[in-house]
Amino acid sequence: MQYLLLFLTTLASAITLDVTSQSDVKSVASTIAYDMMTVYTGNQSGQVPGLLPGGLNCNPNNVGTYCWWEAGAMFGALINYWQYTGDTTYNQVTSQAIEFQRGADDNFNPANQSRSMGVDDQGFWAFTAMDAVEANFPEAGGNAPSWLSLAQAVYNFQQDLWDTDTCGGGFRWQVFSINAGYNLKNAVSNGGNFQLAARLAYVTGNSSYADWANKVYDWMAQSKLMQQDAQSGILYIWDNTDANNNCTDQTNYVWTYNYGIMLGGAAYMYNYTNGSDVWLNRVNEILNSTYSLFFPAEYGGNIMSELQCESTLVCNEDQKSFKAYLARWMAVTALLVPSTAATIVPKLAASAQGAAGQCDGGSTGRACGLQWYTSTWDGTSGVGQQMSALSIIGSTLNRQSIAPLSQASGATSKSNPDAGSTAAKDPTTEHAPITTGDKAGAAILTIIVVFLVVGGAIWLVI
Ligand SMILES: *[C@@H]1O[C@H](CO)[C@@H](O)[C@H](O)[C@H]1NC(C)=O
Ligand SMILES: *[C@@H]1O[C@H](CO)[C@@H](O)[C@H](O)[C@H]1NC(C)=O
Ligand SMILES: *[C@@H]1O[C@H](CO)[C@@H](O)[C@H](O)[C@H]1NC(C)=O
Ligand SMILES: *[C@@H]1O[C@H](CO)[C@@H](O)[C@H](O)[C@H]1NC(C)=O
Ligand SMILES: *[C@@H]1O[C@H](CO)[C@@H](O)[C@H](O)[C@H]1NC(C)=O
Ligand SMILES: *[C@@H]1O[C@H](CO)[C@@H](O)[C@H](O)[C@H]1NC(C)=O
Ligand SMILES: *[C@@H]1O[C@H](CO)[C@@H](O)[C@H](O)[C@H]1NC(C)=O
Repeated sequence: MQYLLLFLTTLASAITLDVTSQSDVKSVASTIAYDMMTVYTGNQSGQVPGLLPGGLNCNPNNVGTYCWWEAGAMFGALINYWQYTGDTTYNQVTSQAIEFQRGADDNFNPANQSRSMGVDDQGFWAFTAMDAVEANFPEAGGNAPSWLSLAQAVYNFQQDLWDTDTCGGGFRWQVFSINAGYNLKNAVSNGGNFQLAARLAYVTGNSSYADWANKVYDWMAQSKLMQQDAQSGILYIWDNTDANNNCTDQTNYVWTYNYGIMLGGAAYMYNYTNGSDVWLNRVNEILNSTYSLFFPAEYGGNIMSELQCESTLVCNEDQKSFKAYLARWMAVTALLVPSTAATIVPKLAASAQGAAGQCDGGSTGRACGLQWYTSTWDGTSGVGQQMSALSIIGSTLNRQSIAPLSQASGATSKSNPDAGSTAAKDPTTEHAPITTGDKAGAAILTIIVVFLVVGGAIWLVI
């Protein structure tokens, strides 16, 4: 079986990969990162550092345009890339991008983006800052705030957004009430804040962050966002719930990145607590459900797949990047929770092999598609596909020596627990009143959500 897989891969793909060879993995990762970065022009004169094409006014349904959050995630993937390969090619450009997008309050809420700022969007840039902290990525220097303080500023800013007026708690998706989607409390915003708090606890050892991580997790676990199916035992982490109905129902969509976010956060908490049984059980529960949902038996059980949209080729540009994050956080989990490595490592290896086999399209003959379960290129290419392939292939270089650093184990980025506390909180001081265009946007979103609920219900019946 393994022989056959390798044979087919060699035959059909322009990128060949032997996952057991470190030098092979590094060189393939370098090619994939290079192709990903051909899309990025933010470091050229007249362009905006830190933005991908379309990043000023994004619509993830337009192929080839990428939202601000995804650019943030991409720079995180490049920090990871540097960490496991030692290749410094993209360090400068990454540092410049983070610096440029940190915003006037140093909390990743830059004026150009704040009008449509999501708690999750900020969260992904904060993850990138944490990647820098945990890898001792060179600080930007000069008067620039430390990587750790940028993440702490996001944490501090989001503290004030915890909403107990509805649903007994939770974060709304959008930071500002004038934005479409403010009614939703979603998994990625709550999970993102949970993971950020867990990583701050892990890195600093400060129990305030851990208390907060527990609080967010507990709220999510009792909400409709997390539900265990009694029969299959699968833990469903649903996309969102509606605060306008006091969170009494949910949208039945599951995404790899939500499982990755919760898994990663639980893994940091497990390690922070020196191995608590409660967190070990949560890690295993999320991991088991991840395997059941996103490593389908029909593809052999070891190839990661975006259940909701991949085989039907309807993933939007956001969704095409989601596997990158699950790959990354599975790899991190294998280090922070050593007992999980035995099941995680073979899945990362097989998925990496599959991803390389899917990198055989486009004008280069090596652009990566998303369907890792076949070596026939799926006809799509872009930043999300490249980032996902980069992340899964890089994850096979995962080893104890690159485990996330904490202050106790050598992380040097300076802590500033009060970072960002002077940031403006009242959106009406910074934001124009809602326009007709925005109202139309809200209506369109409502229609999409209704459609999703119906679609989700059908999917559940199936
Ligand atoms: C932008 O960064 C790329 C690396 O991604 C580099 O090859 C290129 O020379 C840089 N361009 C400028 C103008 O600095
Ligand atoms: C904001 O947008 C303006 C106009 O496009 C641009 O000149 C500026 O560099 C952008 N700033 C950031 C932080 O993206
Ligand atoms: C809304 O939900 C919360 C938490 O589930 C509950 O405590 C509260 O009583 C609910 N409020 C209303 C008005 O139903
Ligand atoms: C721990 O974190 C809390 C919450 O941000 C902060 O108020 C406190 O100052 C921190 N303690 C230390 C010792 O950094
Ligand atoms: C974990 O163990 C270390 C070393 O014994 C100790 O300093 C730390 O307080 C422990 N952490 C927790 C959350 O119990
Ligand atoms: C996860 O799956 C393994 C293997 O099937 C099983 O032994 C374990 O009890 C499961 N753990 C949880 C928390 O569901
Ligand atoms: C925490 O993570 C480190 C680094 O991967 C690992 O060596 C250690 O065993 C982990 N702690 C526990 C309690 O598993």
